[in-house]
Amino acid sequence: MNESDLNRIKEKISPPGSLLIKGPGALKGTVRVSGSKNAVLPILAATLITDKKCTIRNVPDLTDISIMVELLKILGKKVAREGTVLYIEKEEDTPGVAPYELVRMLRASILVMGALAAGRNSFRVAMPGGCLIGERPIDIHLKGLKKMGAEIKVSGGFVELDASGLKGSVITLDFPSVGATENLAIAACGTTDKTVLENIAVEPEIEELFSFLKSLGAKVKHRGSSVSIKGRSRYGGADFTVMDDRIQAGTYVIAGAVQGSDVRVEFSSPETLDALVEKLIECGCFVDTGSDYIHIRTPERLKSTDIRTSPYPGFPTDLQAPFTALMSCADGVSVVNETVFENRFLHCGELKRMGADIEIKKDFAVVQGVEKLTGAPVAAKDLRGGASLVIAGLLAQGVTRIIETDHIWRGYEDITGNFKKLGAEIWTE
Ligand code: EPZ
Repeated sequence: MNESDLNRIKEKISPPGSLLIKGPGALKGTVRVSGSKNAVLPILAATLITDKKCTIRNVPDLTDISIMVELLKILGKKVAREGTVLYIEKEEDTPGVAPYELVRMLRASILVMGALAAGRNSFRVAMPGGCLIGERPIDIHLKGLKKMGAEIKVSGGFVELDASGLKGSVITLDFPSVGATENLAIAACGTTDKTVLENIAVEPEIEELFSFLKSLGAKVKHRGSSVSIKGRSRYGGADFTVMDDRIQAGTYVIAGAVQGSDVRVEFSSPETLDALVEKLIECGCFVDTGSDYIHIRTPERLKSTDIRTSPYPGFPTDLQAPFTALMSCADGVSVVNETVFENRFLHCGELKRMGADIEIKKDFAVVQGVEKLTGAPVAAKDLRGGASLVIAGLLAQGVTRIIETDHIWRGYEDITGNFKKLGAEIWTE
């Protein structure tokens, strides 16, 4: 990747700046969330398996998406954006490298590995490396690709793959990894043999990817935690509308649980948040779920409750940080058990700076509810941890200033505008 590519990409990363919230504030009103970041990213990677034009609709305006678009351009695609629609066409043959500078900026870049393997190419993809929430290995991805006949060498921080001998296989994932399920499903489209994946992740974003692969022409039969996929030699194009972002939606629903709020969050598939809704009702909230909304009304003070994160349909790990912030002012003790990532309590140190009473014991956070938090300068450490600090700011007396907000812009489109719509005193500097 040359200097100008890298500079062009760096321009896409929104400047951090600070996000300020004056609390305490009850929220009132309606918010509509944008398309799903975690559904769009694998679908963008999957467009690499076809030379035909793909139109992807309901694409959110997020840093992570911009970086993936730049990666597609480096891998030979022409990409145009009109509002929330992306038009993706083949421009040139795929050069065989997904560069480290990019993969380190966006872990989800590793999702191009399956698509490049489907093309039966020989190529190099930078190892994504860890991030603050965990080591984030890709052993399950590589074990599955090896089983599909890919020759793999890991050296110098790169995965070197020769997928010329790609074939169908039966693969049981050691853990229902979302990314590994996505990579292996896309790779399976590279052979007309049948591939069966067992113990797959069943997050709604996975089903969305399967629907997209089917729209390109792959034969995909998904039943519970297993899927069988038969590829074809050439694929068509697709015009595909992506689901709304259930994690963004869940974040606003949790924000709607701050004292005395009355919030309606509009998005597709609210049933995907059943595990969250159940917990909010346990805390004393009144929650009404319709076909395309969740309406939450909240008492002055919540009861505490315990949560344990787990793969879908369990309580989503991506909503653990926002929920932990909410429990910091609930009545009683809440025990938060994070079972998916090994280091996803970084927001707790920042919440404690605001007066939260939290004790971390390995993969448990024991939260003793306090009356109020106090506004303070805090730093976003990761995407969902950043969102948890916004919620804490709504619970706090005074002004909270959040720095390192680039983490937040990665996954929340117009978070300032949306919270303003709900009546929060929130601004950027
Ligand atoms: C996806 O990450 C999401 N990212 C994450 O959302 C989400 O938290 C996660 O799934 C779990 O739901 C995108 O979809 C872009 P995993 P992914 O592979 O695919 C271990 C956000 O905030 N593992 O299911 O990386 C891994 O270390 C982000 O939007 C292996 O050990 O998640 C982790 O502990 C954060 N070996 C656990 O599995 C592997 O080969 C879950 O990881 C792969 C994963």
